[in-house]
Amino acid sequence: MKAFTDSDTADEAVRATCDDASTCKRFATSKGYWSDPFIQYFVRSPGERKAPEINRGYYARVHGMNHLLDAFLRKTECNCQVVNLGAGLDTTFWRLQGKNMMPKKYFEVDFSMIVARKIHNIKTKPPLSKQLIETHSTDSLLFDGHSLDSDRYCIIGADLRDLAGLEEKLKKFQLNTELPTLFMSECVLVYMTPDHSSNLVHWIAETFHTAMFVNYEQVNMADRFGQVMVENLQRRQCTLAGVEVCRTLDTQKERFLSNGWENADALDMMTVYSILPQDDIARMERLEFLDEKELLQQLLQHYCICWASKDKLRLGLAQLAF
Ligand SMILES: C[S@@+](CC[C@H](N)C(=O)[O-])C[C@H]1O[C@@H](n2cnc3c(N)ncnc32)[C@H](O)[C@@H]1O
Repeated sequence: MKAFTDSDTADEAVRATCDDASTCKRFATSKGYWSDPFIQYFVRSPGERKAPEINRGYYARVHGMNHLLDAFLRKTECNCQVVNLGAGLDTTFWRLQGKNMMPKKYFEVDFSMIVARKIHNIKTKPPLSKQLIETHSTDSLLFDGHSLDSDRYCIIGADLRDLAGLEEKLKKFQLNTELPTLFMSECVLVYMTPDHSSNLVHWIAETFHTAMFVNYEQVNMADRFGQVMVENLQRRQCTLAGVEVCRTLDTQKERFLSNGWENADALDMMTVYSILPQDDIARMERLEFLDEKELLQQLLQHYCICWASKDKLRLGLAQLAF
């Protein structure tokens, strides 16, 4: 069996996708698609212009994920944990802090090289570290190059394909398997083989009696448009190892249903776009003129949100939806 090391070229290409996501989010927020006062501390400049259909796609992605995350926090009255898998430079911790919607503890996992960069930014940018220190009560703040651990926020460097290593680290930082826990992954599982992502979601279902998983990634990838997406990434040495699971909404749901989850739902992003609050959609659509309406539709039809739950505590997680 191949030993995974952070120096693999394939892994390097996957890590590079972290910058793609955060530069696109940085640009869209600079145009006013949504507000994120913290992303500027991770990506200094708005950078090169991105096409309006890309910005609208990111708008739907961010609002779609936030919708289900916030619904889970309300349902559990924040008496829960959140684990963001492959979080990259995501700023959700600061958004939740600002809204006073913090779970008991918010965890992030990514490759150790990405985590080291994120921690360096947090350490050196007072607007980022201030909120972290404010939510911490004792003198046990751990802040080294590889991990960060405070009362309410924890960042862990780990490979999501190495479940033994992941479990050990999450336990070391007091992940509580008895608390309702939301796992989220935004464009992450698609970079892992179907076996690796199935093992991951299976391990979560086995370990937590009350949990939800929210996953955003590609769908309808067997058609011509999907093939072009795969080829474009391959040209940058980036393989979508998990593309098989991205054939249909049913294959997305099946990954959860056959791995210990009680319920699973999935919607393509075209549908999500049509049911997000329409007054804000109208505001957002006025920001930039969109020539390529068909291209936007095709893009949105090739991404989805799939969410799954298991609910021993009978909180009503299966009812969470759009
Ligand atoms: C496309 S980026 C998305 C980042 C973030 N979720 C967002 O949407 O802004 C994918 C992230 O998943 C991480 N990732 C992919 N495979 C991983 C693995 N096996 N272990 C840990 N992190 C992984 C990458 O390093 C990268 O930060």
